[in-house]
Amino acid sequence: MHSPAWEALIMAAILVQVCSSRGLRPNPALPDRITKLPGQPQVSFQQFSGYITVDELRKRALFYYFVEAEMDPSSKPLVLWLNGGPGCSSLGVGAFSENGPFRPSGQVLVRNEYSWNKEANMLYLEAPAGVGFSYSGDSSFYDGVNDRKTAWDNLVFLQRWFNKFPGYKNRGLYITGESYAGHYVPQLAQLMVEFNKKAKIFNLKGIAVSVLTMGNPVLEFATDFNSRAEFFWSHGLISDSTYRIFTSACNYSRYVSEYYRGSLSAVCARVMSQVTRETSRFVDKYDVTLDVCISSVLSQSLVLSPQQVPENIDVCIEDETVSYLNRKDVQDALHARLTGVTKWTVCSSVLQYELLNLEIPTITLVGSLLKAGIPVLVYSGDQDSVIPLTGSRTLVQKLANEMGLKTTVPYRVWFEGKQVGGWTQVYGEMLSFATIRGASHEAPFSQPERSLVLFRSFLQGIPLPETFSGFP
Ligand SMILES: *[C@@H]1O[C@H](CO)[C@@H](O)[C@H](O)[C@H]1NC(C)=O
Repeated sequence: MHSPAWEALIMAAILVQVCSSRGLRPNPALPDRITKLPGQPQVSFQQFSGYITVDELRKRALFYYFVEAEMDPSSKPLVLWLNGGPGCSSLGVGAFSENGPFRPSGQVLVRNEYSWNKEANMLYLEAPAGVGFSYSGDSSFYDGVNDRKTAWDNLVFLQRWFNKFPGYKNRGLYITGESYAGHYVPQLAQLMVEFNKKAKIFNLKGIAVSVLTMGNPVLEFATDFNSRAEFFWSHGLISDSTYRIFTSACNYSRYVSEYYRGSLSAVCARVMSQVTRETSRFVDKYDVTLDVCISSVLSQSLVLSPQQVPENIDVCIEDETVSYLNRKDVQDALHARLTGVTKWTVCSSVLQYELLNLEIPTITLVGSLLKAGIPVLVYSGDQDSVIPLTGSRTLVQKLANEMGLKTTVPYRVWFEGKQVGGWTQVYGEMLSFATIRGASHEAPFSQPERSLVLFRSFLQGIPLPETFSGFP
């Protein structure tokens, strides 16, 4: 016979044993779980955000925002998204303006119907340290950050992130990004491939390199930058005579190269000032057809030029994101803190990135990744003049030729609904190029629906829709 006290003791003992024998440890991701973002509508998926320390000694930590897939996350792949700059935030640009589940609007968040978490578990990383909420306790790190350091920190981040989310370790992994991420993406993937030769750590499925955000080159400096002249000229942003001197007296790659070396020649200075005068400051170079956000423009100039506010697209989303992410309640909900800076900014104000790294060609890395069996998609928003589609298309075509990859899908249109979503060509079933019609440098921002169709096709490894859909 046992007294009730005895029974309680025995129960407690059994419980302790069950817990320890099953190794029940608290879920390591639990402290990073977001209960609810201020102003957020009710949703069914889980969100997490917080820090992963990448260097204990120098107190360097990277901030991430992780959004599980809307439906059935355990059957969907993991997608890492990186914005470029270098020095701009994947949280502010990627998640809150482009392909994340919400966009800030005044005091609240509104649902993005074409969020990429419809198809994947989306991981947004603010990198390198010094960008957004990511920081280095030792501020000397910020002087001379380069592609190499960024790639290493990103690698360490991913390894440690998997310790927090072990359920994702064996999931198909895609690395995606935009603009200067044309450096980050293949450089990180290359490190992972090298690591995997020693121990299979990463389950790498594919890379989607979008060459479309935040100024700066991507796969090959001269080709990418010099396609700008023709884009300006063919879209009527510069005159015939300016086009002539911009392609003969001083081209854009020469100008940038001289500029970053502090040795700007008189001829390049003259050519660029003529180009700048004609293109005007009041045209968005990232989408030559999009209106500019008046307040953003005004923040950079005192010149007043009243313009109509467009109806469909909120071109002032950047301003909305800045005010949202600087709210104390939002930072608390995100488990974020400001370290060494007084304000969250879209692009870093502390980072001194090694800008000459932009001359490192990464198209050759893309070649070796293809050889390692990793499919690659390069896509271009076709209204972007910063990294125009023509440069990217030339680079992809040239790489296919060099590798002897035959065309498997000839250049053709693809559809989203009843309209042409863009053009595509595929080489050797591995290397794909696609344009997104009417899209800016930040394609998922200006063409969310078309971008989602492209993303879905790439993840599922199926050709882009070849015909009209939605016939009555
Ligand atoms: C750009 O200018 C550089 C230096 O003058 C030159 O070597 C290069 O061939 C030019 N590229 C194009 C596409 O005009």
